[in-house]
Amino acid sequence: MSDSLHRSRAALLSTLLVVAACHPQPSAAPAPVSGPTAIVESRDATRVAMAAANAAFPSGWRFPVGVKPTEAEHAMVVSNSRLASEAGIEILKAGGNAVDAAVATGFALAAAFPSAGNIGGGGFMNIRMADGRSMTLDYREMAPLASSRDMYVDANGKLTNNSTVGYLASGVPGSVAGMAEALKKYGTMTLAQVMAPAIRLAEQGFMVDSQFSRGIEGGRRAITPFEGKAVFFPGGEAAKPGTRLVQSDLARTLKLIAEKGPKAFYEGPIADSLVAEEQRGGGIITKEDLRRYKPEWRTPIKSTYRGYTLLAMPPSSSGGITMAETLNILENFAPLPPAGSAKYAHLLAESYRRAFMDRNSKLGDPAFVKNPLNQLTSKTYAKVLAAQIDLKHASKTPAFETRAEGMQTTHYSVVDNMGNAVATTTTLNGGYGSGVWVRGGGFFMNNEMDDFAAQPGTPNMFGLVQGEANAIRPGKRMLSAMDPTIVLDPQGKLLMVTGAAGGPTIITATMEVILNVIEQHMTLADAMRAPRLHHQALPDTLRYETNGMSVATVDSLRAMGHAVAPNRGSLANVNSILRVPGGWHGVYEPRSVGGAVGY
Ligand code: GLY
Repeated sequence: MSDSLHRSRAALLSTLLVVAACHPQPSAAPAPVSGPTAIVESRDATRVAMAAANAAFPSGWRFPVGVKPTEAEHAMVVSNSRLASEAGIEILKAGGNAVDAAVATGFALAAAFPSAGNIGGGGFMNIRMADGRSMTLDYREMAPLASSRDMYVDANGKLTNNSTVGYLASGVPGSVAGMAEALKKYGTMTLAQVMAPAIRLAEQGFMVDSQFSRGIEGGRRAITPFEGKAVFFPGGEAAKPGTRLVQSDLARTLKLIAEKGPKAFYEGPIADSLVAEEQRGGGIITKEDLRRYKPEWRTPIKSTYRGYTLLAMPPSSSGGITMAETLNILENFAPLPPAGSAKYAHLLAESYRRAFMDRNSKLGDPAFVKNPLNQLTSKTYAKVLAAQIDLKHASKTPAFETRAEGMQTTHYSVVDNMGNAVATTTTLNGGYGSGVWVRGGGFFMNNEMDDFAAQPGTPNMFGLVQGEANAIRPGKRMLSAMDPTIVLDPQGKLLMVTGAAGGPTIITATMEVILNVIEQHMTLADAMRAPRLHHQALPDTLRYETNGMSVATVDSLRAMGHAVAPNRGSLANVNSILRVPGGWHGVYEPRSVGGAVGY
């Protein structure tokens, strides 16, 4: 352990006390604990306490170790909105399964977490049924038929901001089709049943709290040029804490979907409102675009890491491949150095660099691009990449300027009492998407077109520099980093459900939370609170959260040749569930808002 890290006696003691207090041990049954003991289900109380005390955060880090997670015996929903998590639990308690609950949570997020929860965006769902069946659903947005490769480049060859703001920024939304498809195939309830909580939230409203109000204020620039300002900025002010936010247009839209199914959105009155809105502002999404939209079932990316199995998202998301490639590289270094050390940060950075270089140049929508999936996820290829890593020196990639990073994707994790699991990530891309709010429809449109390489070789809003594989083509899905992930233990039993928001930091943060649990032996609460790192090849900078690395660690990394910089704000937004003996631990992102609700 690096000298610069501290684990005070008080912190260690409080961790032990928390573990003891949370998990009183009946004489015969194993205590419900997290960390590696959860994996082997040890009855050894000493090992339990030691495992749970394994985290050590740098001095000055914003979170303490040893915080208690939400515990539940039967089922858990974790999302960025307590109201949305409660919607999921309501459905589970009414007899629904994890897919029913995930769809309920997704629609509820559209009402209760409008910066990222959506029906005007897209997403990915990763499902594992208790009987072992495993599948993913891609409901990523598609480029409109009238789109073209250089539509965001002006006459002087300069990239405009039309891929991020306003009417031209939106892809054809996939969320409603995706959630309805998942429900039809693997749910047990009707749309009307699972959408009831979302309709209630929109129709009867909910009490605005200070965090929600601050979130709306943060979206002022995106929202106020468009028609959503009347709902979210009544009288010109962000909806105030203590007031009730009612979304009547959204309630009507949700009721139409609940009664008539996704056709109402893609061909019926909602499609009429959406296309009318597009036409008013010079957008290009047509009725034909909406009519043609289809979600796609895909085989998960299945990879292994030291005996654990990871089920993750295939293209059109890069999440699963990039994670598998990184973990395969890291597997060549056993054991990994401790979290917080310069050696660990160096290995992560060099592995991320190599995986992101492949991601940024080789991956795209499989309907348009032949993704070298077998090569990139092969252990042999990873061994070659691992051998290139110099343990003492950073390698180099050319630097580019990065732009500010948005976080407005949202991930939610669900497990039910039968052991079915759903990991879902959904997004408008930037906060409140393009800002365009569909009159009569009551929802924000995405600005997902910016996830294409709008000008191959030029950074997008996440600073990602990507190539032709992800260039715009009509009907193509833009490459995503979303990575809803399910982890199985070495016995093949469900262990973790996780995923994140935060553009490319989705991949690194999701992986770091998983590594913190299965390799660094942290409790889920500590794994989620631990400082995060990020490297995406370009820009060639290892980013860390302020006070998340000790000065000595930063100095060591610089001496190795890394460009190291604190990130502006937090890295990613993760929502996770971990199986523990006797039930589940749920933790929502401590850097953000949310709710872990179980029973
Ligand atoms: N919009 C963020 C992503 O899909 O990666």
